[in-house]
Amino acid sequence: MRKKVIIDCDPGIDDSLAVMLALSMEELEVAGITIVAGNSPAEMGYENILKVLKFMDRLDVPVFIGADRPLKREYINALDTHGPDGLGGSFLPVVPSSSYIKQQKTAAEFISEVLPGGGISVIALGPMTNLAVLAEAYPEAFKSIDTLVSMGGSFKSPGNCSPVAEYNYWCDPDAAAYVYREMDRAGKKIHMVGLDVTRRIVLTPDLLAYMKRLSPHIGSFVEKITQFYFDFHWEWEHIIGCVINDPLAVAYFAQRDLCSGFDSYVQIETQGISIGQSVVDAMDFYRHSPNAVVLTETDPQAFFRLFFTRLLRLDSEPDLLEKLTK
Ligand code: BDR
Ligand code: CA
Repeated sequence: MRKKVIIDCDPGIDDSLAVMLALSMEELEVAGITIVAGNSPAEMGYENILKVLKFMDRLDVPVFIGADRPLKREYINALDTHGPDGLGGSFLPVVPSSSYIKQQKTAAEFISEVLPGGGISVIALGPMTNLAVLAEAYPEAFKSIDTLVSMGGSFKSPGNCSPVAEYNYWCDPDAAAYVYREMDRAGKKIHMVGLDVTRRIVLTPDLLAYMKRLSPHIGSFVEKITQFYFDFHWEWEHIIGCVINDPLAVAYFAQRDLCSGFDSYVQIETQGISIGQSVVDAMDFYRHSPNAVVLTETDPQAFFRLFFTRLLRLDSEPDLLEKLTK
C-alpha cells in the first residue's frame, strides 16, 4: 500500500529536490504540500513549488500556504543560500494561475482536516511553524500524525547557522521546541534527520554530470536550480558540490534502513547563544522517555541509488554510482 504523506516545506533548492523525489516514488502518495516561511518567504515558496510541480507535470497536487513568519522571533530567510528567487537564481517563469487550483485553506487547516482520517504522515522540511500552529489550534488532529519526520537539528555535527544550530530549528526555535514538547505529551517520537546525516549527502559535480547523461531533461533542471548552491557551499563550507539535506528525509521516510540512530529525549533551546540548538539527552541525564529518534548514520551510496533510480526513472541501477560516491 502507498504511504500517504504531507510535505511541509520552504522551497528552497533542496526542498524542491525532495518534492521531486517524493513525487517520483510509487510507494508514496503526496496528499498535499504545505508551505512555511523559511528559506524563502511563504509567497515565494508557494510560487516555487508550483514551478516544480509544473516541471513534474503534477499541478494536480494541492498546495496550501501557511505561516509567513516564525511564532515569536524575527523572520530571517535563507535567500543567501538559496538564491534571490529561492530557486538558485534560475528565475523560472511564474506558473499562470489558470493552470492550477488556488487553495483557500491555510496549511494548518488543511492538515487538521486530513489527519483524523488516520494513516497520514508528515515530512517537515522547513521551520516547524505550521506544525506548531496545528498542535495549538487542532491538538487532536496533531496527535493523529502517523509518523513525523523532521529535517532539522543536529546531534554532534556543528550547526549551519551558528556553532550549534541548524537553520530550520534556528529560524523558528519556539515552534520546534513546542512541537517536540507536544509530541512528547502525545507519547510519540519525531524522526530527527539532522545535519549529522544530511551533511553526508553531497551532490558533487560528477554526480550532477552523471544525472544529465542519464536524463538530460531532469538533470538539466537539477543543474539549473543547484548552481547557486554549489557556489554557496564552496564559499562557506569549502565543499565542491552541495549538501542536499531535504531529499534524505523523504528517502528515509520511504526506506528506513537508509539511516540509523538512537531514541532520545530532545529539547530545543529558544534563547541565548545556543538558540535553535537541538539538545539531545544521549546519556539519559533526565531519565525522560524519548520523544525522538535521532539519526546519526547514513549510507550516501544507498541514498543516491534510490535518488537516481526514482528521480530519473531508471529501469536498472546506474553502474557508475559506486565509483562516484566513494
Ligand atoms: C535546512 O535548511 C535549508 O537550507 C534546507 O532547505 C534544509 O531544510 C538545512 O539546515
Ligand atoms: Ca528546507
